[in-house]
Amino acid sequence: MSTQPDRVLIFDTTLRDGEQSPGCSMTAPEKLRVARALGELGVDVIEAGFPAASRGDFDSVATVAREVRGPIICGLARCTFEDIEAAARALSEAPRHRIHVFLATSAIHRQYKLNMAQEEILRLAAAGVSRARALCDDVEFSAEDASRTELEFLAQVLEAAIGAGATTLNIPDTVGYTVPDEFAELFRYLRKNVRGIEKVRLSVHCHDDLGMAVANSLTAVVAGARQIECTINGIGERAGNCSLEEVVMALKTRAAFFNVSTGVQTTRLYPTSRLVSSITGMPIPRNKAVVGENAFAHESGIHQHGMLKHHSTYEIMRPQEVGLARTHLVLGKHSGRHAFRERVQALGFELDEAEFNRVFEEFKALADKKKELFDGDIEALVLRAEGSAPGPWTLVDLTTEAHSNGPARAVVRLTHADGRAVEQTAGGDGPVDAAFKAIEAATGISVALRKFEVHAVSEGEDAQGEARVYVEYNRQSYRGASVSTNIVESGTRAFLEVINRIEQSHERVRSRKERAAATPA
Ligand code: KIV
Ligand code: ZN
Repeated sequence: MSTQPDRVLIFDTTLRDGEQSPGCSMTAPEKLRVARALGELGVDVIEAGFPAASRGDFDSVATVAREVRGPIICGLARCTFEDIEAAARALSEAPRHRIHVFLATSAIHRQYKLNMAQEEILRLAAAGVSRARALCDDVEFSAEDASRTELEFLAQVLEAAIGAGATTLNIPDTVGYTVPDEFAELFRYLRKNVRGIEKVRLSVHCHDDLGMAVANSLTAVVAGARQIECTINGIGERAGNCSLEEVVMALKTRAAFFNVSTGVQTTRLYPTSRLVSSITGMPIPRNKAVVGENAFAHESGIHQHGMLKHHSTYEIMRPQEVGLARTHLVLGKHSGRHAFRERVQALGFELDEAEFNRVFEEFKALADKKKELFDGDIEALVLRAEGSAPGPWTLVDLTTEAHSNGPARAVVRLTHADGRAVEQTAGGDGPVDAAFKAIEAATGISVALRKFEVHAVSEGEDAQGEARVYVEYNRQSYRGASVSTNIVESGTRAFLEVINRIEQSHERVRSRKERAAATPA
């Protein structure tokens, strides 16, 4: 007799643990876009941020709580009343919300980070959870660095959290130190030794420092965890978190082994992964499991021969299952709206009419320059059209001149949203360098360039190049990206996007200060 598979909740922390990793920060509209995509993906919980961390974090959690329907919206809080109350306020407009309270428990963290004795940790954990519970029915408690905590003490802290009203207990492997057998043993120990544990949901949260985050999360499920905390593309602190797409596809592909199910629409995995990569600027390695470009490519003759006989010879999942609907169909300037819409939908994008019209216009313009448009071109058009940071600066014209034996020169013409029109000429070591210098002179913003990369988004000699620019300004990191058939132009537009992001963040700080000055004390 087969038993009904247990449901494992998928708790996505791309917007909190993922976003806090270097180079992955997102603007508020970008976070909202990712949150909407996570809703469509079917995750159970979205950890939208850490409201007490900054005004920006508070506002973006509040926006997600107001706008996104479906998943539970969660906010992180340290074990302080201020943090917990800030989380409750930020989440108040979400019909289903959760406060996630955390406190470190390991001896290393107690001694060096918190300077607290065990008794104090026990008291704080209970006080924090009970304050959260007074404000919200759904409270998660995380024992940070649980995998390096003395077993008996960890059991005591978790018991205190249950006593204070926690409804989910999360066991993080904060530093990615544990190994599957040991971690499973920890879950078994806790299930046996923590009073009341059967009344709460057990959760797992793994980091990937030794490359075992997915394996450790799966083993925790075997040992009784019924919530997995993970991020899209595995982005997160240091080496990252457990990758959502990998853990979900492992549970699905090996359903007979795990006997659990999730609510994830796996056909949304690939488009969501691309969206997060495009927004964060974190590329997906070609050989990344499930969503990498090579994940379903078969190169060797023997493998190709096997695949021709039957796909199951070398394929354990179908690309369609993860939403990889790439084809060798080519669109061009004679393709109409209908064919274009079909391709966009097949690639997993849902655009409203206005967005579709805008992308279709860009498609037509591109088809005039480029004979054949592949799936990669269409994906780049959709992702860029939705994601690029608008203004205040717009590139009106760019002229460059380069010689193999001498300096290059660039002339840029820009307009600003406040009505200014500026033209600047600069020399440089190559046309891209010259264009960047001309933009710096025109806008008055000088940055330290940290990385500049270009890669082809599709096939053919006239393939479009996606340029990504990473800079540092006032000790903050900024990035920009752009796609064009002309890589000097895509580099220049990516650089201008960086300048726009810097101006926008100045503008936000300025208006916040003005508001604060205008508010009576
Ligand atoms: O890694 C960790 O321990 C965390 C907690 C806040 C859950 O991210
Ligand atoms: Zn973490």
